[in-house]
Order: sequence, then structure tokens, then C-alpha cells
Amino acid sequence: MIGYVGRFYFGEIIRLEEDMAVIQVYEDTSGLKVGEIVSSTEGPLMIELGPGLLSSIFDGIQRPLPELKEKYGDFIIRGVSATPLSKTKKWKFVPTVKKGDYVKGGDIIGTVMETEVFEHKIMVPPEQSGDIVRISEGEFTVDSVVAVLSGDIEIKLMQRWPARLARPYQEKLDPEVPLITGQRIFDTFFPIPKGGAAIIPGGFGTGKTVTEQTLAKWCDADVIVYVGCGERGNEMTEVLSEFPKLIDPKSGAPLMDRTVLVVNTSNMPVAAREASIYTGITIAEYYRDMGYDVALMADSTSRWGEALREVSGRLEEMPGEEGYPAYLATRLAKFYERTGRVICLGSDEKIGSVTAIGAVSPPGGDFSEPMTQNSLRITGAFWALDTSLAHRRHFPAINWIKSYSLYLGQIQGWFAENLYSDFDDIRKKAMSLLQKESELQEIVQLVGPDALPEGEKAILETTQMLREDFLQQFAFHEIDSFCPLEKQYWMLKTILAFYNSTTEALGRGVGLHQILNLPFKNEISRMKEVPHDKAVEEIKKLIDRIHQEIAGVEVL
Ligand SMILES: Nc1ncnc2c1ncn2[C@@H]1O[C@H](COP(=O)(O)OP(=O)(O)OP(=O)(O)O)[C@@H](O)[C@H]1O
Ligand SMILES: [Mg+2]
Repeated sequence: MIGYVGRFYFGEIIRLEEDMAVIQVYEDTSGLKVGEIVSSTEGPLMIELGPGLLSSIFDGIQRPLPELKEKYGDFIIRGVSATPLSKTKKWKFVPTVKKGDYVKGGDIIGTVMETEVFEHKIMVPPEQSGDIVRISEGEFTVDSVVAVLSGDIEIKLMQRWPARLARPYQEKLDPEVPLITGQRIFDTFFPIPKGGAAIIPGGFGTGKTVTEQTLAKWCDADVIVYVGCGERGNEMTEVLSEFPKLIDPKSGAPLMDRTVLVVNTSNMPVAAREASIYTGITIAEYYRDMGYDVALMADSTSRWGEALREVSGRLEEMPGEEGYPAYLATRLAKFYERTGRVICLGSDEKIGSVTAIGAVSPPGGDFSEPMTQNSLRITGAFWALDTSLAHRRHFPAINWIKSYSLYLGQIQGWFAENLYSDFDDIRKKAMSLLQKESELQEIVQLVGPDALPEGEKAILETTQMLREDFLQQFAFHEIDSFCPLEKQYWMLKTILAFYNSTTEALGRGVGLHQILNLPFKNEISRMKEVPHDKAVEEIKKLIDRIHQEIAGVEVL
């Protein structure tokens, strides 16, 4: 802590050499002079964890932004502070253990309804244990004592944890349950599991922010932590004004009721930006420890990398590739390592997960730059945004040839068990057609489509459907913004039914143009707009029609 004209600036010691400390202050330090008082908080950057986190908006070092705005106006002035969690608000605590019970780190001792829809579990902090000597039901503020353990250990509704230290768990599990996003390109082709990590690299304006927000809105996580890291102020304003208006499709309550926003715009101090992703993931781990599935969205990790580069530059460290510090890869790995599906601490078995989805903004959309390369090495899914798709307004502009998910093998079993056993087969079939299309495209460019044999033209007709009627999904459409898994399966099945019936008819000698004139084609493009409750039934009927109409075409 550094004193300056009656205010205190917080900072972090980033280098110690004998009796010299280098402190990175989280704010602008101009005007600071020799003789200022420096005092130690005796600890690293700590995050307050407890009821009141949900629906909060924090900056990178967990200062509550709405409160700062109320106190100081629209711009954060230097040296201001406010406690992250309200110390006056009272929460109704209902104990779930009683006097005499033995509890240890991670055990739940009671609950608080944090928002209308969300039950916050009050846990014994990781390193503590003992018999319950006293526990009381009632209305408490976050820092009042609600239980006492033997050895005079006091438990409050709130605990504190160092941001840069991963919270402990019992055991990491294989990530085998998919995170359902309702977005066809992700769920069907490049799925990620709960506890997985994905990156969305993409050039300027290709759809990183829209994708992150769509995922935050629709994915089936219990809690969303959205880290807006170093993006332009107006973009963050959009998040801040949009998010509170969004309605959670699952509960009908505001989406903010299960969301924590951590926001650092590009004009806020760089050191706080560097801290913001740690603040975000610590909060995510805390909810994971209660047994919840948490999804963390970071937009954009590149701005975090730039913050790291700036701080490293000031330390005069030897720069690595493109000026990033040599430890960029290690830092990134350490961050993404904190994701996972785990058996949480505590006596009762609780399973929780932290999934991270990081946007990457490579300069010029060039994926060979260090942030993209280092991130893709340690994450399991690569969702590559494509500038030319975005220009053609093919949204989401995810390139299906460049993208991949290494998790497919692990979660395939879940799809077979919980959906349909041939899900993997039809996914592979559709992907092989799309790959074939990209090969054919080269020939088409050279000699034109007419030179292709009928069978290959049929492939191009099918892949056009795959692209336009399946992969394209408008994020703001009333019905299609979310597509249930079962509907995704039947939509894909329909397009493949068209392909199979067509290939068979061509084999009989029918001309492709005869099939393309059949009336069902429009129905295929309308599938995405069919309301979800009627979709499966209607699409099954459509498949029957496709088979019948094509089978009925006579050879001319
Ligand atoms: N899934 C989608 N559905 C519909 N429109 C989309 C979708 N994705 C992107 N867009 C369109 O593309 C525009 C730019 O998207 P977005 O702001 O997410 O890009 P970005 O990659 O975050 O850009 P920047 O590099 O400036 O941060 C949006 O305003 C929207 O019109
Ligand atoms: Mg953006």
C-alpha cells in the first residue's frame, strides 16, 4: 500500500531483491514522490468470497464498480476503494449441520439464498476443521460469525483467498459430460466438456464477443463468470447494459442472478487488467467448490497477454517472442490448469467444474502469433473465427475445417448414451462431406461447377444445406438462438437423409436437377425456425417426405 495525498494505492510486489522491492501499483502513479509512506498488507492479492458475488460487477482487483460510480462518478479516480462484498447487507443463513458434528475443509455448514434462484452454500474454508461448538440460524452480514469450531475457529459467511493460488480439490475427474451450448457448430462438431477449456481466436469484428455472450446466455452452467479484459470501453458498456437485461432462459429470472462480471476496459490500469483473470477464476473455483458447474468467459485473453508484456517490459526482463515475456506459456498454462471437473473438498461427494472459454484477438487475424499458439497447446478445443465467413455474414463465423475439439473421444460416450447411438456416425459423415466440399471447391474454381459429375454436384448441394441450414445460426433469432441437442441431431439427420436418397436416386439414373425441383427443399431451410416443442416431430415427418418424394422421381 502506498500513501499519496491522503489516499492509498494498492499494489503488488512483483520483484524482491535483498531489501529492495519492486511494486506494481494497480493504478496510475504519476505525482508519486520520494518519501511516500509504503505499508504492507502482509499478504498477496486476496479475493473476498461469499454471498453477494452473483450479480456483482467488479474491476480486476475486485472493487465493485457500481458502488465506485455512486461514490465518485463515471470514471474511477485514483486511490479509491470500496469493499468487494457489502458489509452491511444481511443474509438469511440456514444451518445444515448441528452442534457436535465434525466438519472439515470444503464441508457445507449451511445455505443462503443468494438470489431468487441461487442457493449459496457456506463452506468451511479449505484448511480448517473441527467439531461444531456453536452454530446459529438467522440474518447475518458476510463478516459476522455464524459458527464456531473447536479450537475457537470462527466461520463467517465470507472467506478470503489469494487470487493467484488455485483452490484445492480432492481429485480431478475425466471431463466426459458435455457443456451444452445450444449452438450447433459447437455441440455437434466441436463440443467441449464441463471442465474443459476452449479458445476462440478471431480477427477484428469476427464475432468473439457475440460468441462469448451467446455462450454465457445459453450454456448449461449454473454460474457464469464473465471477464471483460481490456476491451474497448464502449464494448464493455454494451455488456454492462445488455447483461442486466438478459433473462435466464432456464429460470426466467435475470441472467445476472447467476453471473459475476469482472470488467477492465482498455483505459483502466494495466496491472489490474493482468490481475482480472485470476480474480475471475478464483470466484469460479469458489462456486465449483460448492458442487456447481461454472463457466468462465474471458474476452479477450490477448489483452491480458499484453498487460503481462507491459509489466514485464517495465521490469526490464528479457523479452521472448514478439516482446511477450518468456514465461507467457507457463502463465497461460497455470491459468487454464485451474479449469477441470473435480471431486470437491469435503466429506460428502460433490462434483463441480470450471470450464474456461477464452477469446484471443490475434493482430491481423494471424493465428501463428504467440498468444494463439501458446493457448492452443494447452486447451482442448480450438474454435477458429474466420474473417471471410464474417464478411459473407455466415454466423457464427467459425471455420469448420480449421477448428477442432480434442475432447470428442472423451464425450462421445455421453452422446451415445444420452442422445442417440449413431450421433457420432452422422457427425463424422457430415464433417467428411464438408471436407470433401473444400477439395471440390478448388476444382470448381478452375473448371466451373458444370464439369463435375452428378455425384459430386450432389455433395455440393448437401454441403450448401449443411452450411446454410445447419451451421449458420443467428445469435439474435427468436427461436434459433438456442437449438436443443435433440433438434440438432434430427436437423443433421435430415440433411444426410437428403444426401443418401439423392445418391441412391442418381444411381437409378435420375438427374440431379429433377430432385432439386422438389418442394421439400424449402422445408429443410425452415427447420431451424420450427419451435422446439414441435421440432422433432415435424422434422421426422420431413425425413419421410424426403425419402418418398425422391424415391417417387422417375427416370426421364
Ligand atoms: N453468431 C452471430 N450471429 C449474428 N451476428 C453475429 C454473430 N457473431 C457476430 N455477429 C455480428 O458480427 C459483429 C461483430 O461481432 P463481435 O463484436 O462479437 O466481434 P469481435 O470479434 O468481438 O470484434 P472485436 O475484435 O472488435 O472485439 C456483431 O456486431 C454482429 O453483427
Ligand atoms: Mg469483441
